[in-house]
Amino acid sequence: MTDIKLFHRPLIEKNNCGRNNFNDEVAEKVLAFHRTLPGYKPTPLAQLPALAKRCGVAGLYVKDESKRFGLNAFKGLGGSWCLANLIAKKIGLQSIDFHELCAPESLKRLGKNTFITATDGNHGMGIAWTAQQLQQNCVVYLPKGSTEERVERIRRVGATAEVTDMNYDQTVEYAQSLAAKNGWEFVQDTDRPGYTEIPTLIMQGYLTMAREAVDELKDKGLKPTHVFLQAGVGSMAGSIASYLASVYEDDMPVFVIVEADAADCIHKTMECGDGTVHVAQGDLATMMAGLACGIPSMTGLRILEGVAENFATITDRAAARGMRMLGNPLEGDDRVISGESGAAGFGAFIELTLEEENLNLRKAAGLDENSVVLCFSTEGDTDKAHYRKVVWQGVPPSA
Ligand SMILES: Cc1ncc(COP(=O)(O)O)c(C=O)c1O
Repeated sequence: MTDIKLFHRPLIEKNNCGRNNFNDEVAEKVLAFHRTLPGYKPTPLAQLPALAKRCGVAGLYVKDESKRFGLNAFKGLGGSWCLANLIAKKIGLQSIDFHELCAPESLKRLGKNTFITATDGNHGMGIAWTAQQLQQNCVVYLPKGSTEERVERIRRVGATAEVTDMNYDQTVEYAQSLAAKNGWEFVQDTDRPGYTEIPTLIMQGYLTMAREAVDELKDKGLKPTHVFLQAGVGSMAGSIASYLASVYEDDMPVFVIVEADAADCIHKTMECGDGTVHVAQGDLATMMAGLACGIPSMTGLRILEGVAENFATITDRAAARGMRMLGNPLEGDDRVISGESGAAGFGAFIELTLEEENLNLRKAAGLDENSVVLCFSTEGDTDKAHYRKVVWQGVPPSA
């Protein structure tokens, strides 16, 4: 049984969707803000030349977001940029600078506000961490099945965190209803009809990781030909794809969007192709907790429709294989600790290039000996016990 499905459709007309919000000028501003945050430094761009050779491509690079602000995931980039903008607007600050936001006078003017969100863990952690830095209250709801470790991590940065008995999408609705009831600020990383400003800010925050990767590749005289982006609701994939499409313009990379097979809303929507948005229903049972989302972000979806040609889904086995391979590199390659959702894009690349049965899919995606591949490992071992289960105990086993 194959561990990857890939829907390829030639891009007839590239659109400019999102280009006003996710371009280099915006990325520059976002990066300038992130530089003012405590503990900021660019995350490593791991190089895997030996594996690239084995996989038959010219270069393989993995952006390691486990090193982001000590948060073990990229999501704090979005939460911090969003909260900083909301707060600056509230107290009338012109610039978005962490030190200014934290100045005693700013905090006095701001008073205490409560921010609420729903999360698989990483987004909530980013919001809770930023709220703590800015001395604000934070309430976080996680969907059923969330592990105690993820809940505890959020509580440790001062937030109230509870697990619901609902799936991710229902938990988002619940958090939104509580916000309306209590007059709290709902800060969600996916849009809903009439709710796009905050998710757009969060998506802009993600640009820092792409901007750092572009800069580092440029220093090496390189540009990516292929970019693998994992998607839950598709906010991250949409913002990064839009940004890279604007940076590289006519020489835009090929994008491969990767979802968990149990939460394949974007894949199904694209495959169907008649404009109907498909929703993945039920428990969305996958170990890729960050990708277990049934309703796509419309902002993300519209962007991906106009720039991406490849929409993949992978099994948990493929993600597990990605985690193991990144954690146990070939000689001379960099090591990356990558969690279940973090390894999904890389896992898809491995299935496409190392499995003979996927030769046609590899060809459809245009992967060959000239390809320079960029993956984003968007989280580290955010669930340490489960990471060990996957990497040490081989659960789930590879095919
Ligand atoms: C580690 C990780 N990677 C990728 C994603 C996907 O991001 P999005 O929901 O914006 O598609 C998430 C979402 O929570 C995540 O936690």
